[in-house]
Amino acid sequence: MKRLEGKTALITGAARGIGRAFAQRYAREGARVVIADIDLDSAQEAAYQINKDISECAIAMPLDVSKQDSIDACVAQTREVLGDIDILVNNAAIFTAAPIVEVTQEDFDRAFSVNVSGTFFTLQAVARQMIDHGKGGKIINMASQAGRRGEPLVAAYCATKAAVISLTQSAGLDLIKHGINVNAISPGVVEGEHWDGVDAFFAKYENKAPGQKKREVGEAVPYGRMGTADDLAGMAVFLASSDADYIVAQTYNVDGGQWMS
Ligand SMILES: NC(=O)c1ccc[n+]([C@@H]2O[C@H](COP(=O)([O-])OP(=O)(O)OC[C@H]3O[C@@H](n4cnc5c(N)ncnc54)[C@H](O)[C@@H]3O)[C@@H](O)[C@H]2O)c1
Repeated sequence: MKRLEGKTALITGAARGIGRAFAQRYAREGARVVIADIDLDSAQEAAYQINKDISECAIAMPLDVSKQDSIDACVAQTREVLGDIDILVNNAAIFTAAPIVEVTQEDFDRAFSVNVSGTFFTLQAVARQMIDHGKGGKIINMASQAGRRGEPLVAAYCATKAAVISLTQSAGLDLIKHGINVNAISPGVVEGEHWDGVDAFFAKYENKAPGQKKREVGEAVPYGRMGTADDLAGMAVFLASSDADYIVAQTYNVDGGQWMS
């Protein structure tokens, strides 16, 4: 049985990486999916592949989560084209890193505007629609092990992900009375373009050879390797399904044992 049959899911930042893998898995589980991303070309390509390989259930939409008018347009258009939103995955985020004394206000503000304000105001817009349609829904935020503790070179990003965990708790407690479950997934280290960028950063600041940091973090995971986007997709389906009805305001580590809490 397909676990998300007939559901409409909006996934932010789904043009590549983890969001894209979630969109594919949701499509296989019977959902209609909106691939919303600031990179519209890649979002269109991701939707095209799903429609070709899985089923005619995906559309691409432009979205910049740091802009309120863009969020409002995307949420309204999703309802118009695919019907009431049942599931939101707040996945879009950017990574930034620098030694404390080199962090610029611009980078700091940008990280908070995408990762924190973007998460919150997309959640708010979708929650308003869910309250309006009266059927409840599931909201899943992407946190990170970076939100569980600070890191010397990653202050701003870590703080944004700690904020996502906190917002998940507050929104989860406030919205459950409307039948809206808000929970989060906290990945550890996941293969993909995001981590290619992280590796390049550590190559610069820790004087490592390209690929070295990635190898080291993979070997340090108790499971024995870095995660893949597919390793996380099962949790994303579970939290979006009715099996998770009684789960409220939680952040789940899906990280091969990297972080225990
Ligand atoms: N990859 C990891 O190791 C890892 C670990 C922990 C948490 N995470 C989190 O998981 C999520 C997905 O990570 P990923 O590895 O797939 O990242 P990624 O960088 O590969 O993908 C992020 C996507 O978000 C989009 N995006 C960026 N800014 C946007 C904006 N303003 N509006 C809309 N879309 C925007 C990008 O175009 C891209 O498609 C993120 O929230 C990330 O912080 C990733």
